[in-house]
Amino acid sequence: MNLYDRIPNNVNLSEDKKLQRALEKWLPNYLDWWREMGPEGFQEKDVWLRTAIDVGSDGWAHFDYVKMPEYRWGIFLEPPQPDAKVGFGDNYGKPAYQEVPGEFRNALRRIIVTQGDTEPASVEQQRQLGKTCPSLYDLRNLFQVNVEEGRHLWAMVYLLHGYFGRDGRDEADALLERRSGNPDKPRILEAFNQPCDDWLNFFAFTMFTDRDGKYQLSALAESGFEPLARTCQFMLTEEAHHMFVGDTGLGRVARRTAQLMKQGDVRELGGIPLEIIQKYINFWFSYSLDLFGGEISSNSADFFAAGLKGRYKERDQYTEHLAANENFTMTVVEDGQLQTREVPLRNALNEVLRGEYVKDCEKGLARWNKVLADEGASERLNLPNPRFHRHVGEFAGHTFDLEGKLISREEFEKRKDEWLPTMEDREYVRSLMKPVVEPGKIANWIAPPAAGIKGKPFDFEYVRL
Ligand SMILES: [Fe+2]
Ligand SMILES: [Fe+2]
Repeated sequence: MNLYDRIPNNVNLSEDKKLQRALEKWLPNYLDWWREMGPEGFQEKDVWLRTAIDVGSDGWAHFDYVKMPEYRWGIFLEPPQPDAKVGFGDNYGKPAYQEVPGEFRNALRRIIVTQGDTEPASVEQQRQLGKTCPSLYDLRNLFQVNVEEGRHLWAMVYLLHGYFGRDGRDEADALLERRSGNPDKPRILEAFNQPCDDWLNFFAFTMFTDRDGKYQLSALAESGFEPLARTCQFMLTEEAHHMFVGDTGLGRVARRTAQLMKQGDVRELGGIPLEIIQKYINFWFSYSLDLFGGEISSNSADFFAAGLKGRYKERDQYTEHLAANENFTMTVVEDGQLQTREVPLRNALNEVLRGEYVKDCEKGLARWNKVLADEGASERLNLPNPRFHRHVGEFAGHTFDLEGKLISREEFEKRKDEWLPTMEDREYVRSLMKPVVEPGKIANWIAPPAAGIKGKPFDFEYVRL
């Protein structure tokens, strides 16, 4: 098998023998990880998947049946921009970094490792879901997300191997050694250690947690370290589908629930009550907010100053790219009360990015509420206040209700079953998760999609079982 077939790429891998050897050594370890921790029970099945074969808006992907271990995980970067410049921070306007600047080496490696760690983590979280798929269409989408998260891991490992030498190789190995939810060697970020063992979790995860990925990748897609920027730009192309899966998935659950509400008791009819959907939203939205980091953060200031991590759409959305002399007003807890505080803007950039994310999530909620309205339901789904149920940053260690009002821990404990999924809720949702694998059929708790994938009908045999 030639090199391109083993590791498809547009980075001239065949001309960099050292990197080629390093990646060829990593490849079998990756495949071992995939077989051990990838989707359980479907490794030998033909799945109708898209594979990245090039960059560029037309023809970047190829659709065909493939067995997942034979998926061609490749390394694709957007083409370099001639005269690329650092787009923000203290080095604004200077030539973009083509190699890792020594003084930013640790920061950059930390950014890449943290992003890289989320990719295999989500595959691990989702590995049991195939067994309870609501349809072949959904099964295929799950596997599409999984193989692309695998490719995103490749993208980060390429950077580690290609630009960081020895310690990069060690970090690349460690990415295959940590395990989601494992108490001894957990994944780095907490949302990626939470179980994702039913399809309502999966849709909420791809809606809210993959969407965090969109914002992190967008902030890195304009990085002054050009290889990272070009890598993240292409990852965003794939990420869009993951969010589509979550957004439309939850919308379809909401639609089905509203339809069942017209017929009688949703539980008795085997659907998922809106209150449970709301609790899953509350859970995954709050954990995903944590992924942006503390509201006030010296790391965010350092990353921005160094030109490594910018704001969302830094180039198009801002005219001033230094962010050096401005302040940002935010709400914090002080002396047991909510107070506003002025913070130097650079120290508030996690919060700025989080704000963009929240606006994007609100649009998703509006789409689901339109579905509910279209089905004649008067109930609505809501996002909790961003202070609710946080484990990172200014609000961790305090307790809030869904509206963001500071409340006592006792009150939170008393009411948390109204707000977050209980064991009983999770068991109920799990009890509905029976596999439906006949082409064109769908589980009772979810509505079919509006259309199939890439022009194929819903009843297409997306996975050959
Ligand atoms: Fe990803
Ligand atoms: Fe993703």
